[in-house]
Amino acid sequence: MSHTKHKIPSEFQIKSKVSQSTYLVSGLLKPWSGRTTKIFSTISSTPKYAPTELGSVPDLGEEQALEALSSACDAFDKGQGKWPTMKVIERINCMVKFVEQMKTKREEVVKLLMWEIGKNLADSQKEFDRTVDYINDTIEAYKQLDRNSAKFEKQGGIYAHIRRGPLGVVLCLGPYNYPLNETFTLLIPALIMGNTVIFKPAKLGVLLISPLMQCFQNSFPKGVVNVIFGRGRTLATPIMKSGRIDVLALIGNSKSANALQDNHPRKNRLRLVLGLEAKNPAIILPDADLDLTVDECISGSLSFNGQRCTALKVIYVHESVAQQFNEKFAAKVDTLNFANPWDKNAQLTPLPEPSKPTYIQELIDDSLKKGAKIINAKGGELSDNFIFPAVMYPVNENMRVFQEEQFGPIVPIVPFKYIEEPLHDMAESNYGQQVSVFGKDISTLAPLIDTLVNLVCRVNLNSSCQRGPDVYPFTGRKDSAFSTLSVHDALRSFSIRTFVASKDNDFNNKILNDLMTTKASNFISTDYIL
Ligand code: G3H
Repeated sequence: MSHTKHKIPSEFQIKSKVSQSTYLVSGLLKPWSGRTTKIFSTISSTPKYAPTELGSVPDLGEEQALEALSSACDAFDKGQGKWPTMKVIERINCMVKFVEQMKTKREEVVKLLMWEIGKNLADSQKEFDRTVDYINDTIEAYKQLDRNSAKFEKQGGIYAHIRRGPLGVVLCLGPYNYPLNETFTLLIPALIMGNTVIFKPAKLGVLLISPLMQCFQNSFPKGVVNVIFGRGRTLATPIMKSGRIDVLALIGNSKSANALQDNHPRKNRLRLVLGLEAKNPAIILPDADLDLTVDECISGSLSFNGQRCTALKVIYVHESVAQQFNEKFAAKVDTLNFANPWDKNAQLTPLPEPSKPTYIQELIDDSLKKGAKIINAKGGELSDNFIFPAVMYPVNENMRVFQEEQFGPIVPIVPFKYIEEPLHDMAESNYGQQVSVFGKDISTLAPLIDTLVNLVCRVNLNSSCQRGPDVYPFTGRKDSAFSTLSVHDALRSFSIRTFVASKDNDFNNKILNDLMTTKASNFISTDYIL
């Protein structure tokens, strides 16, 4: 879609480019005068289609990557650093300071989200607000965690003061589809638990971190947050090879996660917090409410153009209702409105990866060649930065769209006769995040649910798959995840139980009493944080 400038609402026009010319290490926003990378949007600002230049970021090299690593290691300082030894309430205060400043950047970040990744206005605002809520909820959850630990236990004649301590230095890498929210669901719990962090923004959705650089700088002690820009391979490889990373926190692709882990020379030192790809199926049973099912499958497969790890990426429909479902579904897909992110009712938006339309076209061609058809009239219509969602039927396991995580606008539908067919595919699949089941007869649903919970980690009944609400566990089996994220679980994933033990005798008890009354230790504390 091309646009003359006057058609783009004034508040969303790119009037000046964002030149991010610094990176954050050792508490300093260090100026960078080396090579830079221009950032383009696939959205055009001119009547004749041309990508829009949004700004630039530093293209840092190995030297700066290792500088960020040293900064993070120095801030952790072998467990003696100011941040990992700080009182819980003081770390919370830093986080409150950060989130208060972040809130003032909403407009800038939302605008960049729309231009950089093509997310529509409402969803971009939701991504920002959801992230602020996540930070506030994390603060509350940490207070509760601290309250639960503010005590001594006694077993077998030994007193114990048990808390959760940080793991060390975290390398944090987020995805382009939720460059703010998902990255922060790693970064924020990692930080608040006392770890120090090196953060490299995603390949797309990078300029939107610019407005937050100063907030990071002035909210946390030096070296606690380090932000570097450049290619993942150039920066992350030497950092991992150093063997000094304690946690790899990544939301993205399992291949990158594997490659990064392989670079680390001390495997048992490295903890993993990974949210990876998925191929979540919908299973439509003969007694499904088809109108509800169609609506859920539309939002499940095509919100944000299908670029969600939780998207429904394959739809299994029972052969007895396949024709009826297909007709309704295909007709509804064709009513979806393709527009620029700020336009009213923008349900489908430009694809941020310039190569994505070609890739989706390849998947279409492959499945056509192997016997599927496009069953919606507009399916596969190409424009400069978009390809209209193609609904493919009947799809089978030999087709690429069945095997690959499409992460874009194409919906494969697979007919089935026996429920064992989708169950077999799910068991064989390398993925295991979520499933959506549509139906109502409990004598069918009950055994199905009992099996599905063992193949994935969330069974959605008559609704599409999703990550939220963020208080619920977000995880997956096999190549879909490692560790569990949720407001509550993330605090655990980024920490380890560690405690002080002392035999019950007068000598030790006097020491413990003195520690408590003087409050000399930040770890030993029975204070209740309000
Ligand atoms: O990309 C995967 C996200 O975790 C999906 O989150 O279900 O809230 O869109 P969502």
